[in-house]
Amino acid sequence: MSSNKKHTFLGIGIIMLILLITLQFLRPDLKTPPVTGEISVPVNVKAIFKRSCYDCHSNQTKLGWGDKIVPIYWQVAKHVNTGRAHLNFSEWDKLTPVEQKTKLWEAVNHATLGAMPRADYALIHPSAKLSTADIATLKNYLAGLVDHKASDTSKINAENAQYKLWINEKQEPVKHPVALNGIPYDPDYKNWLPLSTSDRFENGTMRVIFGNDIAVNAAKNGQTRPWPDGARLAKALWTQLVDTAGNTRTGAFVQVDLMIKNAQKYASTGGWGFARFKTLKLAPYGKTTMFASECINCHRPMKNNDFVFTVPVKH
Ligand code: HEC
Ligand code: HEC
Repeated sequence: MSSNKKHTFLGIGIIMLILLITLQFLRPDLKTPPVTGEISVPVNVKAIFKRSCYDCHSNQTKLGWGDKIVPIYWQVAKHVNTGRAHLNFSEWDKLTPVEQKTKLWEAVNHATLGAMPRADYALIHPSAKLSTADIATLKNYLAGLVDHKASDTSKINAENAQYKLWINEKQEPVKHPVALNGIPYDPDYKNWLPLSTSDRFENGTMRVIFGNDIAVNAAKNGQTRPWPDGARLAKALWTQLVDTAGNTRTGAFVQVDLMIKNAQKYASTGGWGFARFKTLKLAPYGKTTMFASECINCHRPMKNNDFVFTVPVKH
């Protein structure tokens, strides 16, 4: 190497160093807001959240020196700020009990599916990775929250009667409701084929997932990544009751969720149009059209599966 070239390299090196040092002063805002009301869970569960999630999902962020170096810091600050906006264990008191339950379930779900903690973060914080034992601890905790007590007979009879009304479509409104994002209720789903059933262990409900012909054919031919336009999926939900003999019974109809595939029309929500209709009155769910972002956010860990959880059973 000529001495001229050596000088050029040295010069570039010094300029980059100065640039890097100067950049350290360009710091996006990362506040430490007060803890208003922390989530209350058993210590072993809290320990897992603290280790793997708190840096981005609490006001008790503890950054390592490596996180504080710009440009890494820019990325970190962005993740902490958006992470807190989505889920904040330090401001748990700002959620209603129902929201708390949903968020907790969502958190465990993201962790179980490997979607959280973020892969880029886990790479530089290996201790944040969740072990099989951690996941078991989280799942056991959720399972323990379920109420396994037998329901009284009058409740069972009343809810069973509602289930029969659902089957016979006796009480459905004649004029079909439309969700705030323009998706109408689709009464046809009762005639679609069930793709699978599931009973979510943590909240005492039973559910059946149905698919229209396009969806069923796509599932048969393994064309579900992505699902074709026109595919429709429905998830119907009932309460699950336990009688005094310990038998599980289908109770009242709770709601039906719809996902309608149209890659272009619903591009902003993963190519799926979401809608939910509650109770036999089929009341559209959501206060604003933004309700669908709640749906897609929880379905996001299944991104590689075109946002669908259900693995269809083969017909
Ligand atoms: C490095 C930062 C970081 C860590 C660590 C992290 N998350 Fe996240 N999390 C985010 C960000 C950012 C989002 C917003 C969506 C996105 O960008 O993926 C998010 C979104 C979520 C959501 C979706 C919430 C909603 O309503 O949209 C859940 C649930 C979640 N994280 C749970 C967890 C859990 C549980 C852990 C620990 C096991 C964890 N996260 C660890 C950054 C993080
Ligand atoms: C708390 C997380 C969560 C939220 C919020 C959520 N879903 Fe889901 N969804 C699931 C899970 C998990 C499944 C898989 C079936 C099961 O276990 O119930 C599912 C299944 C579905 C299915 C059947 C297809 C599939 O992906 O398996 C439809 C349709 C559906 N959801 C629609 C909706 C709609 C519409 C909304 C918003 C109004 C919504 N979901 C909000 C978690 C969620």
